[in-house]
Amino acid sequence: MANLSAVLGVGGGIAAYKSAELARALMQRGFAVTTVMTEAAQEFVRPLTFAALTGRKVITRMFAGDGPDDVLASSVEHIGVAKENGILVVAPATADLLARFAHGLANDFLTTLYLAFEGPVLLAPAMNTAMWNHAATQANVEILRRRGHHILEPDSGPLACGTTGPGRMPDPERIADYALSILTRRRDLDGETVLVTAGPTREPLDPVRFISNRSSGKMGYAMAEAAALRGARVQLVSGPVHLAAPEGVEVIPVQTAEQMRRAVLDRLDESTIIVKAAAVADYHVTSVPKQKVKKTALRLSLELDPTVDILAEIGQRKKNQLLIGFAAETENVVAEARRKLQAKNCDMVVANNVSLDGTGFESDDNEVILALSTGELITPPRDTKRALADRILDEALKLRLALHQRS
Ligand SMILES: Cc1cc2nc3c(=O)[nH]c(=O)nc-3n(C[C@H](O)[C@H](O)[C@H](O)COP(=O)(O)O)c2cc1C
Repeated sequence: MANLSAVLGVGGGIAAYKSAELARALMQRGFAVTTVMTEAAQEFVRPLTFAALTGRKVITRMFAGDGPDDVLASSVEHIGVAKENGILVVAPATADLLARFAHGLANDFLTTLYLAFEGPVLLAPAMNTAMWNHAATQANVEILRRRGHHILEPDSGPLACGTTGPGRMPDPERIADYALSILTRRRDLDGETVLVTAGPTREPLDPVRFISNRSSGKMGYAMAEAAALRGARVQLVSGPVHLAAPEGVEVIPVQTAEQMRRAVLDRLDESTIIVKAAAVADYHVTSVPKQKVKKTALRLSLELDPTVDILAEIGQRKKNQLLIGFAAETENVVAEARRKLQAKNCDMVVANNVSLDGTGFESDDNEVILALSTGELITPPRDTKRALADRILDEALKLRLALHQRS
């Protein structure tokens, strides 16, 4: 059994407030959490928040002060804390912490602990886009990556500084799921090549406009991340989303349904498991004007043609591969899942009701039903997309074994 204990290192970034949620999320997954805050972090959140959430003393400095409890911090506590804990999670990892970790500085408790720590390290950087893109930060990240640390790259979106771009700390639930996966890691996908599609597609109306849908890509990215961590080589064909590439995953960016189709078919033969989580447009504009359509007072009609059904095409072409399709439905979820399973020759269809509150497209949670080609229906409890991704992979591997034993 893995040692489910974590040091949560909190750096002085605006995302420090999210680390309180992270402490909770880690504890909900069974971790004992010891929080270490940098001096700057304490400008953003009070140690008391973490002490109350984790039920443990929060380490805030290297050397003892005058308080009765401070004597603790003056012992060689960094060595003890390093030895006792299974994983070091640093979130937010500031540009400054990345630099100090990369170059081995030990000028406060967290950086000294980092040097003494021999277990896995998970870093969730968060900062302004220019700071993240700076050559110095990128060089430090590269050093840390080569050192074998897990880096959860920041998501893109509006930042507290008013700009938009990469820099947002990933969702605390996702960081906690990732930490758990690292410690309880199974390498049951070693030697597999997993092809995942994710996100929406965009079908142009003219050079500046497009039709798309509300898919965030989170489920597909979670599947890709889970498969990679379990040892698979993962190729992720992704429509336009705001998510960072999961660690160790090759991302092939596409825009339209036809581009996604080509990217998938090019990689089909080398794949052993295919996960079609993308929300591919069903229609595209018959003839896209070369120039921007001008605004007039007249009614405008669009002529649309169906796009090629990628899932059905893979279903026809597949040989021994395991094909997992996704179905976002608003009614008759089970019936639709079973219909799709048959019609598209899938081995599994993961169906979800996107009309439910708190699940579906943009949410971090999901509630799904797995319809298998053996006729079995599996209804896992509602969970994070990342946790469900592991469950779907578990069931897919069991299914493949059952199908092999039958044939
Ligand atoms: C309001 C404010 C917000 C900040 N947000 C971030 C941030 O999100 N990421 C970051 O790397 N630095 C941020 N900084 C700068 C860090 O606080 C600063 O580099 C500090 O020295 C980091 O110390 P630490 O790495 O020991 O926590 C911010 C500073 C201020 C004043």
